[in-house]
Amino acid sequence: MVRFNVTRKLTSPIDGQKPGTSGLRKKVKVFIQPNYLENFVQSTFNALTAEKVRGATLVVSGDGRYYSKDAIQIIVKMAAANGVRRIWVGQNGLLSTPAVSAVIRERVGVDGSRASGAFILTASHNPGGPNEDFGIKYNMENGGPAPEGITDKIYENTKSIKEYLIAEDLPNVDISAIGVSSFGGPEGQFDVEVFDSASDYVKLMKSIFDFESIRKLLSSPKFSFCYDALHGVAGAYAKRIFVEELGAQESSLLNCVPKEDFGGGHPDPNLTYAKELVARMGLGKSSSGEEPPEFGAAADGDADRNMVLGKRFFVTPSDSVAIIAANAVEAIPYFSAGLKGVARSMPTSAALDVVAKNLNLKFFEVPTGWKFFGNLMDAGMCSVCGEESFGTGSDHIREKDGIWAVLAWLSILAYKNKGNLDGGKLVTVEDIVRQHWATYGRHYYTRYDYENVDAGAAKELMANLVKLQSSLAEVNGIVQGIRSDVSKVVHGDEFEYKDPVDGSISKHQGIRYLFEDGSRLVFRLSGTGSEGATIRLYIEQYEKDPSKTGRDSQEALAPLVEVALKLSKMQEFTGRSAPTVIT
Ligand code: G6P
Ligand code: ZN
Repeated sequence: MVRFNVTRKLTSPIDGQKPGTSGLRKKVKVFIQPNYLENFVQSTFNALTAEKVRGATLVVSGDGRYYSKDAIQIIVKMAAANGVRRIWVGQNGLLSTPAVSAVIRERVGVDGSRASGAFILTASHNPGGPNEDFGIKYNMENGGPAPEGITDKIYENTKSIKEYLIAEDLPNVDISAIGVSSFGGPEGQFDVEVFDSASDYVKLMKSIFDFESIRKLLSSPKFSFCYDALHGVAGAYAKRIFVEELGAQESSLLNCVPKEDFGGGHPDPNLTYAKELVARMGLGKSSSGEEPPEFGAAADGDADRNMVLGKRFFVTPSDSVAIIAANAVEAIPYFSAGLKGVARSMPTSAALDVVAKNLNLKFFEVPTGWKFFGNLMDAGMCSVCGEESFGTGSDHIREKDGIWAVLAWLSILAYKNKGNLDGGKLVTVEDIVRQHWATYGRHYYTRYDYENVDAGAAKELMANLVKLQSSLAEVNGIVQGIRSDVSKVVHGDEFEYKDPVDGSISKHQGIRYLFEDGSRLVFRLSGTGSEGATIRLYIEQYEKDPSKTGRDSQEALAPLVEVALKLSKMQEFTGRSAPTVIT
């Protein structure tokens, strides 16, 4: 057995290592500075209780972006030096974020071991490559992101770190080959187990969904399917699940080879960045003219996000979670005993609220960030949840899950078309959504993103919006002056959340303007960018009248958009006359 020694390396704090909504995300150029990654990893080890490090089993993998392979070797050497007993690595360092969560919760190692945490190497939907982003986050033994108590501690540690431990003489491990490598250190044996990235996840999906009914749907000549991994890690799962398990054609997979730079693209599944899929589905200007497939979906870099499309039809994420919740019990075996509750993030539209009310389900509105759902799920209070930011998921794991969402939609389609596949007309994605609107009403919804705005200007814009809230009479004066055809603002605040499980309070979670007719304007600063500030503006309007739920959403929302832009003085503060992305 190869032996290794532990070296104590002197270091000093590096500024700016505060983890954001989903871990530490910076340009690769920042990460490759001497000691940058090492400081953060050691600060993480130091923030955990001793038994979560010494003798523990930890997962290290990610979306395969540029610098991941080097980072994995560094973390393996530091783990060995810190007394970790075993490291699990997905083959080639690939594990989607939901798969990491599943691996922590479900996987049993070749020697019967179980993992108690994970370093996930991803910057999610941000581009990758030498000039782009890298990221790292730590997940706990429940499979979910570390709570604020831990991330705050990590940050505190980064500000006072003096040394880190590393096994410099540990040879690099071949992460392309499945198997176990064992080493001997001062405290005993240390193993690195490389395992198949997909098996545990596939097994979990098969225990949740009725694969046979989805297979029937996918093999029907009436149905057609398309999946775009945007060259992210979802590709490592798409072929196994959609082609090998469910019988989809290989040609239905787009960009499903994971690449370190995501093929130069922006791996974010929305109407702007998933260009190829959007064109194939007959949406946007670049439609190819061919008959589009009935169903299309895309994932982000680490495969926790999803976008669902029908033929020439976009499903907003806010509607998607509402529709999944409304159909889960009938269409998905995992939920057949009923839903424990449902939840959405604050800026997500209230479509889910209406379903919860109608079906008499427990309902929660939480701040942006998946960790808030995790607490509810651990307490058995929530089964299905989602966010406007293209995240949907359930309590099968503690991350959102892009492929799960696609399987949920395919399950609903399979269920609605049970008798239709041999004779009869196909119930399409669009039919399902329109039917949902007819039953529950429609929440017209759009989001405007202003990316990479000057951070000072963004802060001023937000401060101004908070200041305005002190007088609703004044706000209404301004609003009516802009558009007299919108309803009155009846409430304005900054969203604050008291976690019903641990009692913790999260303040300043977004600025809300609530209107008399149920419309809403929400302003938030993104917590996931790596440069400047990103302002997000969320605009929503509820329409109950079934004869009015079929309008074009940008057109229906135009008056509210105008109010939002003028009220916030968007152009004045940011210098931008248009958003970077509209979804
Ligand atoms: C990540 C989190 C999501 C959250 C999103 C918000 O994807 O996992 O839970 O909704 O970030 O991003 P933002 O850029 O709006 O802070
Ligand atoms: Zn992601």
